[in-house]
Amino acid sequence: MKTSLLDNISDEFLRTTQFDCIVVGVEGSTLNGVANQVNNLCSGLLQDVLESKDLGDKAGDTVLLRTGKTLGSRQIMLVQLGVLEEIDAARQLKIIGAAAKALKPTRCGRVLWGLTQPLGRESAISQSIHAVTEAAYRFDSFKSEPNPAFVALDEVALLVAPAQVVPCARALRQADALSQGVSLCRDLGNLPPNRCTPTYLAEVAEQLAQPVAAKTSVEVLEREDIQALGMNSFLSVARGSVQPPKLIVLQRKAGPQDQAPLVLVGKGITFDSGGISIKPGQAMDEMKYDMCGAASVLGTFKAIIEMDLPLNVVGIIPACENMPSGEALKPGDIITSMAGKSIEVLNTDAEGRLILCDALTYAERFEPAAVVDIATLTGACVIALGNVHSGLFVREDALAAELIAAAQASGDTVWRMPLDSAYNDSLKSNFADLANIGGREGGSITAACFLENFTRKYPWAHLDIAGTAWKSGAEKGATGRPVKLLTEYLVARCTTTL
Ligand code: BES
Ligand code: MN
Ligand code: ZN
Repeated sequence: MKTSLLDNISDEFLRTTQFDCIVVGVEGSTLNGVANQVNNLCSGLLQDVLESKDLGDKAGDTVLLRTGKTLGSRQIMLVQLGVLEEIDAARQLKIIGAAAKALKPTRCGRVLWGLTQPLGRESAISQSIHAVTEAAYRFDSFKSEPNPAFVALDEVALLVAPAQVVPCARALRQADALSQGVSLCRDLGNLPPNRCTPTYLAEVAEQLAQPVAAKTSVEVLEREDIQALGMNSFLSVARGSVQPPKLIVLQRKAGPQDQAPLVLVGKGITFDSGGISIKPGQAMDEMKYDMCGAASVLGTFKAIIEMDLPLNVVGIIPACENMPSGEALKPGDIITSMAGKSIEVLNTDAEGRLILCDALTYAERFEPAAVVDIATLTGACVIALGNVHSGLFVREDALAAELIAAAQASGDTVWRMPLDSAYNDSLKSNFADLANIGGREGGSITAACFLENFTRKYPWAHLDIAGTAWKSGAEKGATGRPVKLLTEYLVARCTTTL
């Protein structure tokens, strides 16, 4: 999507420039700024519409009008803003979201987005870019005939007050970068598991880094390398699949040389059948989304590369399939993790923690300032928090505060869950150092506790995104979460450490 900023547009511009739709805000029944300008050019059309109450009076109400031949644009969308002074961040998001959603069925390719003129703030620019990108998102490349009713929204010009051009231009660049990261994360999630294999994820990582090789490098460790590192826990999961496992390591060195990096670790199970502890068939296709943690790491890298964020960041992605076969991991098997701890596998469907524990041990070599892992780890987290918040598990209160602040700022929300050692008891094994499952109770917490055992050398947080990474049902599709949260965290980290 092409985006640009416009200030001070002339009547001539509105008469001649060909847009498919001009989106303008109305304050109650008052027409200011571009709304007033458009009204005058259309001989009072907007005023008539307001007088006949065709536009509702609730913030976010919209109405679509045809312009006749007076404007370069085919259509005008009026959006109710309500009282300008009463608009806080949440209401602003609601208004912008409603307007973007209303654009969906309008067959618009080029849009003049006027809402950012009265709203004024930079946050209106970011929210608008995200809302419009989200409304324009489609994943239909596997259909032989794309839906003819859908016109790709490919150009958006945002109107701003002249005094706002400089800060808004900065906000626009950041939002553009972030929306590219979110879209990449969604695309990877939505790809079918026969396409999005561990090998494919490694290729995507390499393509991401290639144009910025001076600051970002990628190393892909193969089965033999992973074996040499002693990552037997990771390898035990990969064993049942014909797809070779990959350990993908991205390193971005864009900050000061002596700055300890932040490390993101993403669960990259490109299909989770459950293995020998096989899952029931119902909705099993959705286990293609079990690599959304990995996708969020790649999406976040895309965003910070586009922003050229001056920070040292490492991404670690253990990627493999969890499949049953004659060679697959079995319940009862005992394996030795890279950290040297033995693990009794009581359920092969609790595979995420088995690949993550080795990746978390691998993270130690970067002497990180902090490590955040992101994983579609437990169905229990979906039961606990539904689809609203991602589960946040973190020992250190300072890191918790940073992540919660980033979650609030980005709207990509989290809920902090407990992580005390009392929960560790359920992971006791009669035969090994640890069992890979606790009981049914508190399942998302015992999973986090399992990981905690491998993270004692650095500040660490775990995000369970099982309920937030994708939607089921009619709207089935990846959400791109938590790319916004992670990027916001890194951006904030950057301003505090510089
Ligand atoms: N990838 C799943 C978690 C999951 C399940 C996410 C459903 C979203 C929806 C994970 O590997 C898994 O299977 N976890 C098991 C753990 C259990 C065996 C202790 C689960 O949640 O059932
Ligand atoms: Mn599983
Ligand atoms: Zn899984």
